[in-house]
Amino acid sequence: MQILSKNIFLLDEPTEIPHKNFVFPIPETISFEQLSTCPKLPPNHWQQSCVHSECTLHQLSPYIGKLKSSISHDLIQTYSKRGDLVVDPFSGSGTVPLEAALLGRRVFAADISPYARILNRAKLSAPQSLEEALNSAEIILSKAENQPDPDLNKVPGWVQKFFHPLTLKEAIKFALEARKKGNEFLMACFLGILHHERPGFLSFPASHLVPYLRDRKYPPQEYPELYVYRELRPRLIAKIKRAYKRKIDAHSNMEWTFRQSKIEKLSFPVTFDCLITSPPYMNTLDYGRDNRLRLWFIDPNSNREIDNPVTKEKEAFQRAIACMAQKINFRLKKGGYCILVVGERLSGSRLSSLSENICQIMEKKAPRLLLYSIIKDYIPDIRRSRRNCKATKAEHILVFQRH
Ligand SMILES: C[S@@+](CC[C@H](N)C(=O)[O-])C[C@H]1O[C@@H](n2cnc3c(N)ncnc32)[C@H](O)[C@@H]1O
Repeated sequence: MQILSKNIFLLDEPTEIPHKNFVFPIPETISFEQLSTCPKLPPNHWQQSCVHSECTLHQLSPYIGKLKSSISHDLIQTYSKRGDLVVDPFSGSGTVPLEAALLGRRVFAADISPYARILNRAKLSAPQSLEEALNSAEIILSKAENQPDPDLNKVPGWVQKFFHPLTLKEAIKFALEARKKGNEFLMACFLGILHHERPGFLSFPASHLVPYLRDRKYPPQEYPELYVYRELRPRLIAKIKRAYKRKIDAHSNMEWTFRQSKIEKLSFPVTFDCLITSPPYMNTLDYGRDNRLRLWFIDPNSNREIDNPVTKEKEAFQRAIACMAQKINFRLKKGGYCILVVGERLSGSRLSSLSENICQIMEKKAPRLLLYSIIKDYIPDIRRSRRNCKATKAEHILVFQRH
């Protein structure tokens, strides 16, 4: 890591900050404008794909707005040290928690979404070995296969549309057994093969990230082979094997906590060393709508609106950030870092500066945290959830330090 000035680091090869000897820069208030005109540039490898090198547990199931594991890795390694307690209050699919645990940090994670609960818990408490995972799958698959068939008339039409009736019956029975056993790892593997057009998945041709049928691209009359029964068992077993392709054991003994909670109700740890999070993408992503099929299998009886106004209304978003800022102002340890990965979107021809707004809120509600550095990472189309649309174009990584 090269230190360009007091406040600007250039991340190149990930290196551990020698914390014991590290002299924190003298507190100095630098404005958002000053820092954003000379942002730190991200290292080149952030643009490259990490799917062939990351721990395969990261790939259990897709998640909109997921952070790249390579970015999480570098941020954790640069701004915390082994044994530290790292907090992520908007943990989504659990990228920061898993990467933190792999780097020997203790973890406190939270998110409002039940889908996030399954993924975080699955990644942090995955069975030790492939053999153990396959054994528990065998138990649940056999139990599910012995259950009476569900009445598909009680299944909403929009869910039925995605599956062959025989596949749907197997999927419902499996999800029921996995829920009964509280087996989040198997549930996450199941959710990860729920919809896609590839043969290893359960649905009729559909997109993988968000559930949209691709029946216009693949009309059933022209592609009847894509609308046949898809057996759950071999697909689930193949998925579990993929999850263990590059499973790293280092994190198995790490201390971790996950709370399913909205930020407004979340009790943070009394004190912690570092916070790394990506807050909800305002006005761009809708975590309820875009995960609706997976959420139905997690709890078919839930009428609870999992979406909250945070992603739609500016005031609600600002309240959520203010609430987080207030809670961490005293609890983040002196010298500790708070890193917010903020998705920016295009408005007209210029970037709308959500991060500037966040900095103003932080200044008011978390006066002990000073803006320390900004990293600007432009997101190529290939890394975006929806391509060629007015979605997130860049990430501003805001680094604050507690004084
Ligand atoms: C940008 S995503 C986080 C993605 C995550 N870093 C990952 O790599 O998967 C933001 C998360 O905030 C959660 N969220 C939205 N509103 C929330 C609220 N009021 N309280 C807590 N979490 C909330 C969403 O469920 C979503 O998972």
